[in-house]
Amino acid sequence: MRLSPIDPCSYSNAHELIIHHVELDWKIDFEKSTISGKVLLYFKTLKDDVEEIFLDSSELNILSVLAKTSAGEIPLNWDIGAHVENLGSKLTVYLPTKTTGELIVEIQYETDPNASALQWLTAEQTCGKQYSYLFSQCQAIHARSIIPCQDTPAVKFTYKATVHHPPYLVGLMSAVKKNSDPGVSCFEQTIPIPSYLLAIVVGALVEKPIGPISSVWAEEEQIDEAAEEFSQTADFIAKAEEICGPYVWGRYDLLVMPPSFPFGGMENPCLTFVTPTLLAGDKSLATVVAHEIAHSWTGNLVTNRNFEHFWLNEGFTVFVEGKIVGRLFGSASRDFHALHGLSELTDCIKTQLANTPELTKLIVDLSDCSPDDAFSTVPYMKGSTFLRYLEDHFGGPSKFEPFFRSYLDKFKYQSVLTTHFKKDLYEWFRGDPANEVLLDRIDWDKWLFEQGMPPVIPNYNRSLLDTCKKHADLWAENELENVKSSPILTEKMTSIQTIEFLAQLLEKKRIVDLTQEKIELLGQTYGLQATRNAELRFRFVRLYIRGRLIDKMDYILSFLNSNFRMKFVRPIYKELAGWPEARPIAIANYYKVKDQMMSVCAYGVSKDLDI
Ligand code: BES
Ligand code: ZN
Repeated sequence: MRLSPIDPCSYSNAHELIIHHVELDWKIDFEKSTISGKVLLYFKTLKDDVEEIFLDSSELNILSVLAKTSAGEIPLNWDIGAHVENLGSKLTVYLPTKTTGELIVEIQYETDPNASALQWLTAEQTCGKQYSYLFSQCQAIHARSIIPCQDTPAVKFTYKATVHHPPYLVGLMSAVKKNSDPGVSCFEQTIPIPSYLLAIVVGALVEKPIGPISSVWAEEEQIDEAAEEFSQTADFIAKAEEICGPYVWGRYDLLVMPPSFPFGGMENPCLTFVTPTLLAGDKSLATVVAHEIAHSWTGNLVTNRNFEHFWLNEGFTVFVEGKIVGRLFGSASRDFHALHGLSELTDCIKTQLANTPELTKLIVDLSDCSPDDAFSTVPYMKGSTFLRYLEDHFGGPSKFEPFFRSYLDKFKYQSVLTTHFKKDLYEWFRGDPANEVLLDRIDWDKWLFEQGMPPVIPNYNRSLLDTCKKHADLWAENELENVKSSPILTEKMTSIQTIEFLAQLLEKKRIVDLTQEKIELLGQTYGLQATRNAELRFRFVRLYIRGRLIDKMDYILSFLNSNFRMKFVRPIYKELAGWPEARPIAIANYYKVKDQMMSVCAYGVSKDLDI
């Protein structure tokens, strides 16, 4: 069912009127696990004589709705529809007179303790073990569980917020902070943002500066290692500005989240949220920060109009991320990074999406599928591969980057569909007659609507990948004794290469002699048993599972319970579910730790376990 003509995931009538500004007055209640207060929604109509407003909401307790007019406050009638899984309920507000122009609506409400965008942690669940902690994650369509709104990226608004919280905690939002009185934090976001970029955190946080416009925020225990791990932030921003244009958001801060943060990173404006699993000790996973910085243009300035065109956010962002990597570490690294992404895509199509091949299309149909269920690496990797293909096709960065920058400049502060990108590309390149034939040769239907791997794999530099492949072949094709004496073992790899080597190994249909002895030797050879690098541990754990080493179940569970990042825990649970001996143990563990997971993660894992 398509809920609205512009967004299959939103009840809003955003084709009739849109929110352009929001004011929040919130009280954070850790006892009740609720946010209560009021929101002012500033609307402007897009047509004459609007009679109703349809809003998105999810499990909100609405207390009152009124219009603020020059003649005073007018109570409004409203009703709320039945709750639909993933989508929440339609909140209808009836306007007493046909309305044209501006309109301000005030809603008093309270969130549900189980609001899907919020995670309430007890003191015990934090690093410091002393204070409660609250954080939000709104993307894709969870903002409706913390604010009644037009929860569609087609609509953008500026916002102001006043947040009342315990005086000994720090409150931060996806905005610039205006004061720091104990117990009251005020924020302002002067750039219009889509609802999914609303974000809040309240916790015992400290700050350490890491660049001219950047600080890292974390609990005290992690602040120094975080500042060290993310010391390249200012360099990433500088390169991103060379590629995309000036950075407009004022600040770029990083927040190191608790382990239950379900993603690697989230590009909340002014304050990127990152998982603590990036703290590997050697900056090897910091490209996630480059990715989130790139979203400051691709996604946060030029935004997908709905999540069917999610590749316009993520594919574009991975493309820019690759360019940042290329400018800082060289083109061989850029290409290796892209090839690594392609092996993740291969794995994803074969496993996660095996039963839903329609989700391997670049543009997906979300009429009957929630964005959480559709989420995969396809928009990331098929999308960025398409852009790289186009870049090569038109003659490389010197030809493509000027177009790319002009596209960003043209559509900044707006929300776009794939057709906007396509049309703009044609307008730009048609200028030169030599490009006509190149434009004709692009098979848009294949790229956008065909299932499976990208139709063309660009001609990447494979030098860094080759070493990974050699190591993978060695371990897959040889008995233990022959591995031990192989000269290949003297060829050293970086930790990113070791990650890719393990990915290559896991891709193998057959691994000779996959015994405990062999896996342990492999672990010792590459320092995997005790590594802090979560990407390495993730793949090492999967090797234990592949070898069906039930004795290693404690090790597997200790990784599963050390973080609740979906990229790691979901595939592991899925693999354990297919191993009869381990399945009951995995299910019991899930029930034990489920409360520490954010609801999107718990929901995903319950599907992976098929319970
Ligand atoms: N915006 C995404 C995270 C996201 C996507 C949250 C969809 C909710 C719904 C973020 O920018 C992202 O892509 N994070 C990646 C890291 C990246 C380097 C691929 C992640 O979380 O792994
Ligand atoms: Zn992203």
